Amino acid sequence: MTDGRALALAYLEQQRLLGGDAVILPASEPTPGARPGKTETPPSGLPPSGVSFDPPSGDLFAADPVQQAHTLAAVAALVAECTKCKLCENRNHTVPGEGPGNARLVVVGEGPGRTEDETGRPFVGKAGELLTKILGAIDFPREQVFICNVVKCRPPENRLPQYDEIAACVPYLFRQIELLKPAVILAMGGTAAQTLLNTKQALGALRNQVHRFRGIPLVVTYHPAALLRNPNWKRPTWDDVRIARRILDS
Ligand code: URA
Ligand code: SF4
Repeated sequence: MTDGRALALAYLEQQRLLGGDAVILPASEPTPGARPGKTETPPSGLPPSGVSFDPPSGDLFAADPVQQAHTLAAVAALVAECTKCKLCENRNHTVPGEGPGNARLVVVGEGPGRTEDETGRPFVGKAGELLTKILGAIDFPREQVFICNVVKCRPPENRLPQYDEIAACVPYLFRQIELLKPAVILAMGGTAAQTLLNTKQALGALRNQVHRFRGIPLVVTYHPAALLRNPNWKRPTWDDVRIARRILDS
């Protein structure tokens, strides 16, 4: 027996003693430590003799309900029932996001505000009106865009979503993007940009360039609510959305 084989057998025996699955070994070469005289011919129904092991059953996440959601509606249904973070406690409605399944542009904001929480729809308050105008400026009717947020329930008093809330919620967003496969993602505001790009860099440093999220071009710009407070940012926002428009046209 080669050293490698002896080592493998010793390892498998160790695994067996630790409670691992049974391993069927060739009858001709007794397992180290096997009781003398005990035959190792597999009973019928078992695989033929030789070292065998159970193939892994799918990938690690195959049983994850979010990964098993195969439509946007299925993701929304999971969100509607979700209690994975404390934002579920005060919500009136979950706001999973909305738009056509074949949208080429996905807009990602931060989280629902008051009007969104009341209606269950994203970007329908004042910031939403401005978003509709911004999309209009690049000839994108809102109805053709999938609009959603990083967190799907309203943070109290519109505070920033906290790290644990984002971590709990972001699988829904990632799955939505996976299903949509858009041509461009527009991340509005620091929370969306930093979450999607997995960075702590400030918004200003992330603007004005094309990033990628899992291969999909991603453009960063100001959040419409910030634009309402600071009209000086309107011009740079037009510049950013024009970058998105150019990608869509190319
Ligand atoms: N702000 C957001 O980030 N999302 C909304 O849906 C509304 C306001
Ligand atoms: Fe679930 Fe997201 Fe709502 Fe938290 S914010 S309860 S993770 S849907």
